[in-house]
Amino acid sequence: MDTDTGQIVGHVTAITDRVIAAGIPLLEVLPLYQGQGIGSELMRRMLERLSHFDMVELLCNARLQPFYARFGMTPVADMMF
Ligand SMILES: CC(C)(COP(=O)(O)OP(=O)(O)OC[C@H]1O[C@@H](n2cnc3c(N)ncnc32)[C@H](O)[C@@H]1OP(=O)(O)O)[C@@H](O)C(=O)NCCC(=O)NCCS
Repeated sequence: MDTDTGQIVGHVTAITDRVIAAGIPLLEVLPLYQGQGIGSELMRRMLERLSHFDMVELLCNARLQPFYARFGMTPVADMMF
């Protein structure tokens, strides 16, 4: 949240099966606020909350793989509809 305006400037969501697996469907930071470490901090906090799951997955395009690799994530082959 922007403490001056009260505006929410980014968000991250996760879904889990409460036991083994978690997924992060959304991580977004408003364009005006990108490149200031907000996305990294949202990911760091979410991964901390999900640290007891055996598996945490997300889909991203190849350009963003280096960003997620910073948090220890590894590219894998996947399938989906
Ligand atoms: C991806 C995103 C969440 C990053 O948030 P952020 O607050 O800008 O991230 P940070 O400031 O913590 O980190 C910036 C790093 O993100 C990476 N990055 C951000 N957007 C990128 C893009 N479109 N392509 C490649 N790398 C990108 C860069 O590596 C940058 O590295 P740098 O610090 O060396 O410059 C943000 O750019 C965003 O909301 N993008 C649009 C939505 C999106 O693509 N979400 C991800 C869905 S998987």
